[in-house]
Amino acid sequence: MEKKFDKLPIHIGFIMDGNGRWATKRGLPRKMGHRRGAEALENIVNYCFSLGIKCVSCFAFSTENWKRPQEEIDYIFGLLREYIKKQREKSEKEQKEEIKARNIKIRTMGDLSKMPEDLEKEINQAKDDTDDCDAYILNIAMNYGGRDDIVYACNKLIKEGKKEITEEDISGALYSAGLPDLDFVIRTAGDIRLSNFMLYQSAYSELYFTKTFWPDFSPKHLDKALKEYAKRDRKFGQLK
Ligand code: IPE
Ligand code: IPE
Ligand code: MG
Repeated sequence: MEKKFDKLPIHIGFIMDGNGRWATKRGLPRKMGHRRGAEALENIVNYCFSLGIKCVSCFAFSTENWKRPQEEIDYIFGLLREYIKKQREKSEKEQKEEIKARNIKIRTMGDLSKMPEDLEKEINQAKDDTDDCDAYILNIAMNYGGRDDIVYACNKLIKEGKKEITEEDISGALYSAGLPDLDFVIRTAGDIRLSNFMLYQSAYSELYFTKTFWPDFSPKHLDKALKEYAKRDRKFGQLK
């Protein structure tokens, strides 16, 4: 089979923005945008893994999103619970059928103790059940902030008694410990900012911004972004 892309990211990150605007534009309540956004997430994550991208991180709920109306927050958490359950069941089925190559490990980033109990429980079960999976990694950021991540890592290192720390120490203490840095970050919906997403891990990421709202973001849009990624000249400070 002909290779679709010359070069693929190992670790891709999605800042899934524009659910609300997608809905408002259609005269629908914002929560309909979140529902369609969850469907887009499922579709895109499956597509990434089918292409052979090893690790997908997605920004589902930020430490700043608590400033939204409680009703919207509750709705987003409900969708997340549904999605994680579905992923866990899919992963279990694949483990049973020994489709080892499709094993997806579920991880999260962010302080889960602030999440509703049933969501926290579902997440912990999903993590336990997929702990042995290693073909692909789905890393969901919720109640996550890049600054909070760095503070969390530093406090962890202080508790371990470290007096002096290296960049590697911090990388290894972040919520994303063990994952490679982000190669490629995609933000939908037209805003050109990171909004506190994986600040430490994106130091040398290629960035891609599209006006497409997240619920409309499809494999076709991802193909376009990945074609651009393949053309980028990553230099990491060196002369090339
Ligand atoms: C992204 O869509 C989802 C979350 C932040 C949880 P938004 O809800 O931010 O949609 P817009 O930006 O208001 O359109
Ligand atoms: C970023 O989107 C957070 C998530 C996608 C979860 P926001 O909609 O919260 O970001 P701002 O407020 O436009 O910067
Ligand atoms: Mg937004």
